[in-house]
Amino acid sequence: MSRAKISIIGAGNVGASVAFKLAELELGDIVLVDIIEGMPQGKALDLLEMGPISGYDLKIVGTNSYDETEGSDIVVITSGIPRKPGMSRDDLLSTNAKIVKEVTERVVAKSPDSILILVTNPLDAMVYVAYKVSGFPKERVMGMAGVLDSARFRTFIAMELGVSVENIHAFVLGGHGDDMVPLARYTTVAGVPITELLPKEKIDALIQRTRDGGAEIVKLLKTGSAFYAPAASTVEMVESILKDKKKILPCCVLANGEFGIKDTFVGLPVKLGRKGVEGIFEIKLTPEELDALHSSANHVRELCKRVHELGVL
Ligand code: APR
Repeated sequence: MSRAKISIIGAGNVGASVAFKLAELELGDIVLVDIIEGMPQGKALDLLEMGPISGYDLKIVGTNSYDETEGSDIVVITSGIPRKPGMSRDDLLSTNAKIVKEVTERVVAKSPDSILILVTNPLDAMVYVAYKVSGFPKERVMGMAGVLDSARFRTFIAMELGVSVENIHAFVLGGHGDDMVPLARYTTVAGVPITELLPKEKIDALIQRTRDGGAEIVKLLKTGSAFYAPAASTVEMVESILKDKKKILPCCVLANGEFGIKDTFVGLPVKLGRKGVEGIFEIKLTPEELDALHSSANHVRELCKRVHELGVL
């Protein structure tokens, strides 16, 4: 069986960290693409030279062209600018929408059967751009956000309770922004909902820290945004697809009536397998949770409208 091929567009902080983890897991051959000359080549060579120590045998190529991406199974798109302190993800819209449009056109020309995973922010609107530009079926275009937001929520709960993060399962749905929807009822510690373990005020505070999780790191870093956890979250999605694990993960996908949401990209629990999005897992929500999910979806729709107003699509 031939090895899988994964291309990563944007070899910056997130892109390079994705490559690092993909290599360590030996998930497939890797192509790193960036517009900066020499940078993806240098990082690819550095990663190759890590192989003898880490024990992986892979092709890892860095390039400024798309030729080497030909026939990719999965393409991870991280190209774009990250946030600076004081910026919201939405402030990146106009710059990143143009970049994602151009990149998607070039990716699909070389890899028409690939699965696209978007990481560039504002995430949900960028997935919409890639979907429109690629013309791919909805099963093959998705965004990474919910896995990261859930990982942040899990981390904060573990810190609060002094238990292993491995015991904590969390679901954060909705758009990747201030109105994301952490579902406390479906968030458990060794199977027990946190609503039975923590008072409401504590849960609310942990939810707020989760919503602000990206900004908290931007404020500390000052020159960019988070990349280790975003990269690991992306790799969890890649692994579930390539190994056909069919994990249920919160990902940004096109809703087509699920949860009463139509024609909108938003974070929902999905089954990820070799075909990409193999199903949307319609968990039961309370009217308040549904309201929160709908208002988050409305926000994404507004952003997508702005992409059209800006003339990008
Ligand atoms: N084609 C290819 N690469 C590009 C293009 C393009 N048209 N435009 C920009 N890039 C590259 C940049 O040269 C840079 O190396 O994208 C890379 C982005 O890397 P960083 O600036 O380090 O940003 P990073 O932290 O990786 O974040 C990337 O992911 O999490 C989101 O909000 C974040 O939108 C941001 C994206």
